[in-house]
Amino acid sequence: MNWPGIIAHYRRHLPVDDNTQIVTLQEGDTPLIPVPRFVNAIGGRFQLHIKLEALNPTGSFKDRGMTMAVTAAKTRGAKILVCASTGNTSASAAAYAARAGLTAAVVLPHGKIAMGKLAQALIYGARIVPVDGNFDDALNVVRALGDQPGVEIVNSINPFRIEGQKTAAFEICDTLGRAPDRHYIPVGNAGNITAYWQGFKEYHAAGTIRTLPQIFGWQAAGAAPIVENRVIEHPETVATAIRIGNPASWRQAGAARDESGGVIGSVSDGEILRAYQLIAASEGIFVEPASAAALAGVIKTQEQGGIPADSLLTATLTGHGLKDPDTAISVSDQLIKPVPPTLSAVLQAIQG
Ligand code: F0G
Repeated sequence: MNWPGIIAHYRRHLPVDDNTQIVTLQEGDTPLIPVPRFVNAIGGRFQLHIKLEALNPTGSFKDRGMTMAVTAAKTRGAKILVCASTGNTSASAAAYAARAGLTAAVVLPHGKIAMGKLAQALIYGARIVPVDGNFDDALNVVRALGDQPGVEIVNSINPFRIEGQKTAAFEICDTLGRAPDRHYIPVGNAGNITAYWQGFKEYHAAGTIRTLPQIFGWQAAGAAPIVENRVIEHPETVATAIRIGNPASWRQAGAARDESGGVIGSVSDGEILRAYQLIAASEGIFVEPASAAALAGVIKTQEQGGIPADSLLTATLTGHGLKDPDTAISVSDQLIKPVPPTLSAVLQAIQG
């Protein structure tokens, strides 16, 4: 069967009707991949399955929310989609705007967007407005832009985004035939953790799953406002996607943590990069640094006392590694240096 995208597949659970003209790139239906070599490498005896959201059409989980938000915007007659972004939201908004025949304008923290994401927004034809400020500054401007005629904000403060993104939790439960014991997820503006918790709760209320997972959210240590319980004026982290000091869905993230009996913790850039390298080298899975924050959280909880043997964990890996090639190259210690094209020279180079 040709997967029709998340709205058509989960329409019973989403705010659409039979007349809705759906804007889709057939997002969703991403694989849930067991990673036993990663678990062994960190000394675990639990099961971990990763939801590889990097395999959505623009390479991140944002496409699930964007199909819903852009469908709703088009239905309402919007002309211009605007967002603030650390990169992935802008790439997704630009693609879905193109698909819908609308214009996208994206407001970005200047100099802090991974190269691949900028390339995406450009090629999809978005108007790019870099600002001298961080994501939080950009979002403040975008909130004000929302009052302009014909303009629709497609950040996760738009409730349609959350509706679309909750379908990832549905897919995890549909694949496993149950809820995981724990779900690990990176946290930036906190829309996705909000969406997952909503999705798990809706499936629970409908009787589709019998138990609810504990939600384990992870912020980068230099951008951990929820963990520190204060706004961070100048957030900094190698994981630029989650370089956010004042998350819009702060309260909802706290509710997901508290209602589920989970945790929101922080991981250092060193811990993020270790997880980033380990998942690639042990399993062949290349994600961007922000995604690796969830895995750094798995490592941290394992090292801090262990994760119960035989428990079933899932983790969302939010964005593709190819979006940020600079970081992958910078963490490698291999020297890339040409040798003569002869058998002996190449053999010598292979042997190091
Ligand atoms: N991982 C990646 C790769 C992201 O791009 C983001 C957010 C997150 C995790 C965190 O998700 O914000 O819902 O808590 N990126 C936004 C953007 C901020 O503009 O692309 P969140």
